[in-house]
Amino acid sequence: MGSLFSSSISLRKSVRIADDEFIQLRDFIYEKSGIFVDVKRKYLFESRFSKRLNELGLSNFADYLKYLKFDMKKAEELTTLFEMVTTNETSFCRDMKQLKAFQGNVLKEKIDEQRKTGKLELNIWSAGCSSGEEPYTLSILLHESLKMELPRWKITITAVDLSKAMIKRAQTGVYGDYAFKTTPDDIKAKYFKKDPEGWKINPEVQSLVKFQQMNLNDPLALKRVARSHIVFCRNVIIYFDESMKKKVVGSFYDNLLPGGYLMLGHSETLHKISQTFKPVYHPGTIAYKKEG
Ligand SMILES: C[S@@+](CC[C@H](N)C(=O)[O-])C[C@H]1O[C@@H](n2cnc3c(N)ncnc32)[C@H](O)[C@@H]1O
Repeated sequence: MGSLFSSSISLRKSVRIADDEFIQLRDFIYEKSGIFVDVKRKYLFESRFSKRLNELGLSNFADYLKYLKFDMKKAEELTTLFEMVTTNETSFCRDMKQLKAFQGNVLKEKIDEQRKTGKLELNIWSAGCSSGEEPYTLSILLHESLKMELPRWKITITAVDLSKAMIKRAQTGVYGDYAFKTTPDDIKAKYFKKDPEGWKINPEVQSLVKFQQMNLNDPLALKRVARSHIVFCRNVIIYFDESMKKKVVGSFYDNLLPGGYLMLGHSETLHKISQTFKPVYHPGTIAYKKEG
């Protein structure tokens, strides 16, 4: 066993990346996805990409750059590249304090407004949804808030991510224990069933969520998303530089209906990014309102 392990290790050569190759690869990733990799994380390129270069039989990053730009399989490789550069950390009910404040204030306001107009409709956009835990959590919150009234509502949660693999995983709706590390036991018991592969989400909760692979760096794709009452984009813009943050947040502003809200992750802010939203402070979260 030990020798097999060490021989497989020796087969995988670590490929060093030169400074100019790092800059070129970093710029390529930025141009395609808006994800900005700081030079301090250069070592990450060597560790994450060496395996891929070995698989492709390439001995250096200059050849990998040519492959990404000119090979017949460049479109497929871009998908693989996106898997390698994204961080997909997520879980059900992530940041419960924020979600409670959201449910009791923002969501309640929108539900009350819609009830008043008699238009029982809500569109929510989860941008950067990873493997689906966030949009499914939003669907659970809607079930908790609307209860028996829910079947009378037309609700769509549009959930998008750059990673095809994450979207595929999200669509299965089956999760391992890790996905529940921030989830109250009663929510897990109420909305999930044990399955041979893990825990399967309730089909009614699942039915509100429509998944789609989408690059937030593609303004035309963003324009095709139905206008939203609420946009969730948590723990995504931290990977972007200022100019990409401004572009994406501008697209969310255009997408939101008047009076709509943008929700960010707890370490993220619109300070220096956008003056157009009005920050509304609740204990546990800031909701950014598009006044209308
Ligand atoms: C850390 S996860 C956050 C997941 C979830 N929103 C949450 O807070 O739990 C960040 C996600 O953003 C996605 N992402 C990064 N850049 C993106 C882009 N340009 N377009 C779409 N999704 C992107 C990644 O693939 C990843 O799944």
